[in-house]
Amino acid sequence: MNFTGLSEKTLILIKPDAIQRALVGEIINRFERKGLKIVGLKMMRLDEAVLREHYAHIAGKPFYPGVERFMMSSPVVAICLEGLEVVAAVRQITGITKARVAEAGSIRGDLAMSVACNVIHASDTVENAMLEVPRFFSEDELYDYSRTDYLHVYTEDERE
Ligand code: PPS
Repeated sequence: MNFTGLSEKTLILIKPDAIQRALVGEIINRFERKGLKIVGLKMMRLDEAVLREHYAHIAGKPFYPGVERFMMSSPVVAICLEGLEVVAAVRQITGITKARVAEAGSIRGDLAMSVACNVIHASDTVENAMLEVPRFFSEDELYDYSRTDYLHVYTEDERE
């Protein structure tokens, strides 16, 4: 998997609160309008093992059992997005974890109120994206294709 230049990748999980609130289309629409390329997309149920690995950094916190129950309460939608500096771009439009004080205009700022029910997970660094994308997508679930609108999304220099 290539994570350099225009092929930088990030992992999004549309969380159970967004599935229940029928916000999947709204969230995907925001990524598409930004100019980001969807290279992987699927609905899946998460189990304890993958959640313990994915949330290893909070597994010792008192709120972790609640996070695990919440993330298993319905399927999630996993998305792999590609673009130039896509990890930082997506974090910017995601907004901070505590959704009720997230910036207006961000996905969490506009759509959520909670720290756990905050509609999406997004990789926070390129290093973590390189671990998270293969955790949820195999090589043959990621698609390599050209976007004709890249002529208008990026300058020639940025496309090189
Ligand atoms: S982040 O976005 O990963 O930088 O957020 P972080 O603050 O490190 O939190 C990691 C995930 O833990 C969830 N979280 C909580 N859940 C319940 N209660 C409390 N107090 C709480 N604090 C953090 C939060 O939803 C983060 O999930 P992800 O999927 O990473 O956004």
